[in-house]
Amino acid sequence: KKEQLILGIETSCDETAVAIVKNGKEIIANVVASQIESHKRFGGVVPEIASRHHVEQMTLVIEEAFRQAEIEIQDVDAIAVTEGPGLVGALLIGVNAAKALAFAHDIPLVSVHHIAGHIYANRLVTEMDFPLLSLVVSGGHTEIVYMKEHGHFEVIGETRDDAAGEAYDKVARVLNLPYPGGPHIDRLAHEGTPEIDLPRAWLEPNSYDFSFSGLKSAVINTVHNAEQRGEVIAPETLAASFQASVIEVLVTKAVQAAKEYKVKQVLLAGGVAANKGLRAKLTEAFSELEDVQLVIPPLSLCTDNAAMIAAAGSILFEKGKRADLTLNGNPGLDI
Ligand code: KG4
Ligand code: ZN
Repeated sequence: KKEQLILGIETSCDETAVAIVKNGKEIIANVVASQIESHKRFGGVVPEIASRHHVEQMTLVIEEAFRQAEIEIQDVDAIAVTEGPGLVGALLIGVNAAKALAFAHDIPLVSVHHIAGHIYANRLVTEMDFPLLSLVVSGGHTEIVYMKEHGHFEVIGETRDDAAGEAYDKVARVLNLPYPGGPHIDRLAHEGTPEIDLPRAWLEPNSYDFSFSGLKSAVINTVHNAEQRGEVIAPETLAASFQASVIEVLVTKAVQAAKEYKVKQVLLAGGVAANKGLRAKLTEAFSELEDVQLVIPPLSLCTDNAAMIAAAGSILFEKGKRADLTLNGNPGLDI
């Protein structure tokens, strides 16, 4: 059999996602049931509610994926599932669905790290060319990951406090924007100009670590100080200023790392990769680095999905990685 079919299952946060990927690169089914509407009124993801929705949606989403792909479970070579990191109660629903299918149909099981999944979303777009770096910017993570080959992940920089997406969502709350705030700030930022001088946390020279909590506090203080003076700062101005600070730090560190590590590719990954400003500034910056190819996945593959988990699972499966039926959800899993 020349074809390899991987079923991917992802439930680490608030999307119940199932996908089927052919030969690690071609999506033949990609179903995402979002729970955003249920969490919105709480201003963030409520773990208990997330778990309940995953239970309700899981079998429906699996059925829909097989309907889209027009294949049967027996055609699947392996089941790839997100082991962590994420919300433990949410992870367990996906892990148990994967184990049940693997056991019932005697199909190999492969566990996948959520961030490895985000990075491998890029393999659904183009061939990966090593060595490479991935700039991972999501609601839970902000990391620069070095890969010298498939399946090898070395974190060369990470956030010391808030993740980029987390900072977006927290600033959005201050501006009374709905959850998740990232896309709303992105939209507002394009309607305003970055007039307010907000801090950029460069940290030590040559450090690829990030810090966004100081920036978040600076935005909150700016809003409160203006209120005390009886002034209102236009939300467009705040959004533009905040976004300019986040993007400048992300782009500068990514470019510096790409030069130091002499990589062939830089892959953008994670929910914040959907940010229009970030996509534009990265494209601009990397157009000047002739030897480095910048890869930016389409929006649907940036936010949580299971195609990325199947894509990462495909490589791990080929490398012989297997999980057994003792597999558990692991909220603090290291890449
Ligand atoms: O990767 P993801 O779907 O979930 C995690 O693994 O965390 O990322 C979700 C994060 C949220 O914080 C959301 O606000 C942010 O991605 N996000 C954005 C944009 N679209 C989603 N942040 C900035 N600009 C966007 N356009
Ligand atoms: Zn994610």
